[in-house]
Amino acid sequence: MKGIILAGGAGSRLYPLTLVASKQLQPVYDKPMVYYPLTTLIEGGIRELCLISTPQDLPRFQQLLGNGSRFGLSIEYREQARPEGIAQAFLIAESFIGRNPVTLILGDNIFYGGDTFQRAFSEFKTGATIFGYHVHDPERYGVVEFDGGGRAVSIEEKPKLPKSNYAVPGLYIYDNDVVPITKALKPSARGELEITAVNVEYLRRGSLRVQRLNRGFAWLDAGTSSSLHDASAYVQTIEKRAGIKIGCPEEAAFRQHFVSLDQLESIIAAMPQCEYRSYLEAEVVAEARRLK
Ligand code: TTP
Repeated sequence: MKGIILAGGAGSRLYPLTLVASKQLQPVYDKPMVYYPLTTLIEGGIRELCLISTPQDLPRFQQLLGNGSRFGLSIEYREQARPEGIAQAFLIAESFIGRNPVTLILGDNIFYGGDTFQRAFSEFKTGATIFGYHVHDPERYGVVEFDGGGRAVSIEEKPKLPKSNYAVPGLYIYDNDVVPITKALKPSARGELEITAVNVEYLRRGSLRVQRLNRGFAWLDAGTSSSLHDASAYVQTIEKRAGIKIGCPEEAAFRQHFVSLDQLESIIAAMPQCEYRSYLEAEVVAEARRLK
């Protein structure tokens, strides 16, 4: 399974924050936003990643994440010249995807709780798997309608009159057909290659699986000033209470055995003295040494 992090877009709702740094580089409590989706993919066991962003912002992501070796990953970078839709990612990353299945995650989506994604990745064979999450404002998202048997029967992008409260979060798993499906799409009225149109095509083919995320699962998108603040507050609350970190790619890479304990220690040694470093030393390295 290959992984794409889509971290372009205009970020206009976060203006003026996004005048000099893209949305996905803004802090969510104690780390850059992109660390959260990156960690979600690492926790899912995905090691080959492609990050897509705007020509202006791509160098900053490269500065932040490098070639990925610090996390035991390989990370490639591709430009999206203009924000022409989420599904355009599959055309931009076609050579990266090759003949593999691919997971796309949006760079401003934060997930926390449970192992639903890990299981979805390991069980995935063909078609598409997307998720449904109960929200109070479904009209802002792609909305999925279920029949009595829990099967998806329709998906609509930002409907004025949503047929359910289930929004589709920004993590999508596809087989290799996603590339030809996207190639056959026409831009929507707003000039974008819509991810909802990709999902509708898989639904039409009878190969779309929509898994509902349960109540214990948190999905936050950090696209507005208010939701960015809420996401920070949420992360701070959980981290303070539990003494753990959410969205810590070094820790996730170690727990996935992408990096060894020795490698993790040398990565930590290159960090300045800070709370992030202390956490990795005290909660991850020391614990691992104790258990050895
Ligand atoms: P949005 O939040 O819908 O769009 P945006 O980031 O441009 O923000 P705004 O509406 O405030 O201008 O995008 C969802 C995610 O997808 C976000 O992480 C940006 C990313 N994205 C791209 O990278 N390229 C695109 O063409 C689109 C449409 C979105």
